[in-house]
Amino acid sequence: MQISQPPVPKYLKKDELTQECKDLISSLPTERGWVASTFYKYQGFWHPCRHLQGIISCQKHFRAQETDTILVTTPKSGTTWLKAILFTLMNRTHFHHSADNHPLLSNSPHALVPFLEIKLFLEGENPDLSSFTSPRLFSTHMPYVSLPKSVRDSQCKLVYLCRDPKDTLISLWFFTNKLRLQNMGSRSLEEAFELFCGGVSMYGPFWDHVLGYWEESLKNPRKVLFLKYEEMKDQPEHQLRKLSEFLGCPFSEEEEKEGVLQGIVKLCSFDNLSNLKINKVGKLPSGEDYSVFFRKGEVGDWKNHLTMEMVEHLDKICKEKFDGSGLRF
Ligand code: A3P
Repeated sequence: MQISQPPVPKYLKKDELTQECKDLISSLPTERGWVASTFYKYQGFWHPCRHLQGIISCQKHFRAQETDTILVTTPKSGTTWLKAILFTLMNRTHFHHSADNHPLLSNSPHALVPFLEIKLFLEGENPDLSSFTSPRLFSTHMPYVSLPKSVRDSQCKLVYLCRDPKDTLISLWFFTNKLRLQNMGSRSLEEAFELFCGGVSMYGPFWDHVLGYWEESLKNPRKVLFLKYEEMKDQPEHQLRKLSEFLGCPFSEEEEKEGVLQGIVKLCSFDNLSNLKINKVGKLPSGEDYSVFFRKGEVGDWKNHLTMEMVEHLDKICKEKFDGSGLRF
């Protein structure tokens, strides 16, 4: 009896590449991918071919508006969480955080704040974005050097989020193993660790991604707000206040008194979002279950997985890479 294979999800399909992208990848250095079999190095960073397709289309066609806000993150740093927070914060006059019809109750944060290069510019080479009303809110994992020129040149705001590299690695390892098909097997932690330390991870090298935005945030603090997952977990209300001021929509005294900050933090909390039906059973159009974006949502889970030698090795690399930058995890 022949056992039928499950259909290949869209996020693993290679057949939708433009000729331009096919020509480009044929000239790029390659490495082992984490989910798709191959990574390509483009502008100093590693990508599977689908992401690369989205990046080059976005670079060519996206035109930033002065009022845009773009959430930029390293994968697995809490993108889903910050999408929810930013959406709620920026739309709080239309949707009160406690309203029964709040969009977050029936939509994934990924549907409300779409990725530029992994959704919009992958669905069509030059998508029509006219349905997004100003101020627009998008997200991306693109490194600073790969951002479309209009994003770098305009007054639009960039909110950057990253996370302790050890937790990022563990989260990425679990996430990518969930996305691998059964016949691909799982990646061992040892292999994932070796790749990550060599800079070969989604949108990696991790440190180059982080440093690109860290340096920009120092040069241009009105354009780039640099946030860390651990600080968001530790002082969510303080970070929310900082975000609102950076985006030019500070909380009024009335809102502070009314407990709006606490309300937003609660609505966007791991417990609340991960238990909503949409996030338990829904899927991205590219096939990933929304539930894969929720695992533990804790700081320091690496302690349960990495050996002492691994910790020392990764700490040493990070110390060298971040040396002199003023950035620490
Ligand atoms: P863990 O795998 O450590 O649990 P991203 O959204 O960038 O893909 O990041 C996913 C990570 O953020 C996962 O980390 C996930 O559990 C965590 N996460 C998702 N929603 C969260 C929330 N509301 N609050 C805190 N962490 C959250």
